[in-house]
Amino acid sequence: MVNPSKGIMDLQAYVPGAAQAPGSAAPLRLASNEAALGTSAKAVAAMANVARGLDRYPDPECARLRQALGARYSHSPDQIVCGSGSEALIHIIMRSYLGPDDGFLAPEFAFSLGRIAAMSCGASVEIAKAKPNLEMDVDALLATASAKTKVVYLPNPNNPTGVLLKTTELLRLREGLAPNILLVIDSAYRDYVSDPEYEPGDAMVGRQTGNVIVLGTFSKSYGLAGARVGWLYSSLDVVSVINRVRPAFAVNSIAQTGAIAALEDVAHVSAEIALVRTQRDWLSSALSRLGLSVTPSQGNFVLAHFPQGAVAAGQANSFLTTRGILVRPVNNYGLPDALRITIGTHDQMQSVVSALAEFLCAARGSQNLQNA
Ligand SMILES: Cc1ncc(COP(=O)(O)O)c(C=O)c1O
Repeated sequence: MVNPSKGIMDLQAYVPGAAQAPGSAAPLRLASNEAALGTSAKAVAAMANVARGLDRYPDPECARLRQALGARYSHSPDQIVCGSGSEALIHIIMRSYLGPDDGFLAPEFAFSLGRIAAMSCGASVEIAKAKPNLEMDVDALLATASAKTKVVYLPNPNNPTGVLLKTTELLRLREGLAPNILLVIDSAYRDYVSDPEYEPGDAMVGRQTGNVIVLGTFSKSYGLAGARVGWLYSSLDVVSVINRVRPAFAVNSIAQTGAIAALEDVAHVSAEIALVRTQRDWLSSALSRLGLSVTPSQGNFVLAHFPQGAVAAGQANSFLTTRGILVRPVNNYGLPDALRITIGTHDQMQSVVSALAEFLCAARGSQNLQNA
């Protein structure tokens, strides 16, 4: 056998959300934090039109898309790089900055792709304990940073917990880290945040030089998870590094066109955001009334903990699957007593709550809910 690079065999591959439920032709898919309202009809129509031009390579610079993103988020387009989903950009960032002598630091329970990408570069992984309520802890992050630390990865809000660092805490983190440490703020869920004390990190990005990258994606509020489009916003020196490493034709023509049309369909994305915020509150309250403990979320999902423990969470997941409802177990994050549920329409949320009520009632009746 040819040996892979250092660290590769220590990696656990990314665990994607389930997409199929046995016996259900069209399951309710609430396992991958996709948009509740799906793709904008205008974006669908625009993408269908591109099919005739696929004999040509896509624009390698994503010029029109970066222009549209710049207009939407008040960024200079030359400080934006687009990629095939933010996942690809996370890999490119880690490959650009991390080697076997470097450390990658993330909060406990952070979205796992950052760690996977860092380990694939041979970097060592440093994890800062979360607070007991799962919130990210700036003091712990600063205390865990070592002489090796080169990149800090901060998903804000975090997936799968839904917690966020408020702006003052984010600034305190940046100020407490050495200037030669790159802070990567993954703001995949930025549009769903309702906390007024939140800022995605854009204001921390310098023009010429800097040490902050902010990531965004079209997979969540823009309803284009299948098209694979993400972007990063950073200073020109970082952009020039990333542009050397990224694939030349990273974003295909259909995806570029779909993303531009999705940005233009402001009514659709606004409806998505409003729906998710409302249903997030509704689902959180309904789950609490069922006796589950819900981590307050600012994303398009909630993390529900079963006080009865890990076995109950596993049984609930199996029960939901038999009902054609797919949610996300998070054992791989060290949270075996919890399930992560993506926010959908009100009818979908009612289906989840009814099924869970039925499960909990039956389980209490037969006394077969066990502690892990
Ligand atoms: C925090 C976070 N970052 C990045 C991603 C990946 O997004 P993309 O579809 O753009 O690769 C996800 C997907 O769930 C996520 O939760």
